[in-house]
Amino acid sequence: MSVYLVTGAAGFIGANYVHRLLEWESSDTEVVAVDYLGFAGNRANLDPVSDRVVFEQADIADPVAMEAIYRRHRPDYVVNFAAESHNDRAILGPSVFMRSNALGAQVMAECSRLVPVRSHVHVSTIEVYGELPEGERWFTEGSPLNAKTPYSAAKAAGDQMVRAYMQTYPELNIRMTHCANNYGPYQLPEKLIPLAVTNLLRGRKVPVYGDGLQSRDWLHVTDHCAAVHRVLHAELDPTPPQAATDPALLPIFDISARHEVTNLDMVHRVVTALGLDPAEWIEHIPDRPNHDRRYLINPEKAETRLGWRPVHDFDTAVAETVGWYVENRAWWERILEEKGELGVDWGAVSPAARRH
Ligand SMILES: NC(=O)c1ccc[n+]([C@@H]2O[C@H](COP(=O)([O-])OP(=O)(O)OC[C@H]3O[C@@H](n4cnc5c(N)ncnc54)[C@H](O)[C@@H]3O)[C@@H](O)[C@H]2O)c1
Repeated sequence: MSVYLVTGAAGFIGANYVHRLLEWESSDTEVVAVDYLGFAGNRANLDPVSDRVVFEQADIADPVAMEAIYRRHRPDYVVNFAAESHNDRAILGPSVFMRSNALGAQVMAECSRLVPVRSHVHVSTIEVYGELPEGERWFTEGSPLNAKTPYSAAKAAGDQMVRAYMQTYPELNIRMTHCANNYGPYQLPEKLIPLAVTNLLRGRKVPVYGDGLQSRDWLHVTDHCAAVHRVLHAELDPTPPQAATDPALLPIFDISARHEVTNLDMVHRVVTALGLDPAEWIEHIPDRPNHDRRYLINPEKAETRLGWRPVHDFDTAVAETVGWYVENRAWWERILEEKGELGVDWGAVSPAARRH
């Protein structure tokens, strides 16, 4: 029997991972789901598996609480998804992002040092590489971290610490992923696809920041979860000494379907999937400050070393995702009732408000 400790388990990707984990692993697998139920945390995301998981409400940046959880459950495998994840909210209040994404990442690695596990995956994002320079095809694991937004900079700070743990304590089996933008069920309606669907289903237009030509690299959440699971269980060769100067040799894997789509194109797909006319249902609003223009990463290392491949067809999976939000109206209506409207209108946010 194996014990998995999954943090951020009440969020979008963490909940999807817990659901899949219970299908992929044997019935005696124990899953400890950790989440502090912050802004994006939604305990209801775990309802379908509530009888199969032990839920621990805790802050991953609290070393005393986390060490106690490790000692209580003695996990074999740890996946750290917990992070504050929304670029808009990070601009309005960066401090909470630094605590979860940077300090939290270190506390988790430290707990895996104090109470050793078989392997530990730190889940990170494509966004730590910053904006793809003009003329460059994509980022790789060897690209420098060049985060420019408060969200991605806090993630990059956590990544840097996790890299230090990988180099200093290689016996701990700490690994890392950087993933493209995810889509799928259970995503908070502050993010592009669920925001668009939930607006349209309530007869509201979809707001698109600026010209909408910001380009993103999209991957279905289950493909991401499968990649994380492979990284967690991979038999990896020891890290060579050359990794000191070449981060591509560290146990770091970029995860992507090489599927680049502009935000405007993605919103068009959602509008047409609901049988509506994009000319009528999309409105351009002021862009958020410091908005990254383009990302793309090359997943070749994950493909060749781990044999991972995305299996979801983009057009079909986007249409199914839209269908999930149509069918699960009660799920998102409850969120909007509790949290209010989740889109940010940067035209209405004064520079002073951005500082509070
Ligand atoms: N969504 C994407 O497109 C994407 C892409 C690549 C990587 N990632 C990374 O994947 C991870 C999960 O992202 P998501 O989209 O599911 O985010 P999310 O915001 O939907 O969920 C994050 C969860 O973490 C919890 N959390 C935050 N800080 C915590 C803390 N200090 N202690 C305990 N719980 C805490 C929140 O309550 C929430 O339930 C993040 O690390 C994110 O950086 C996301």
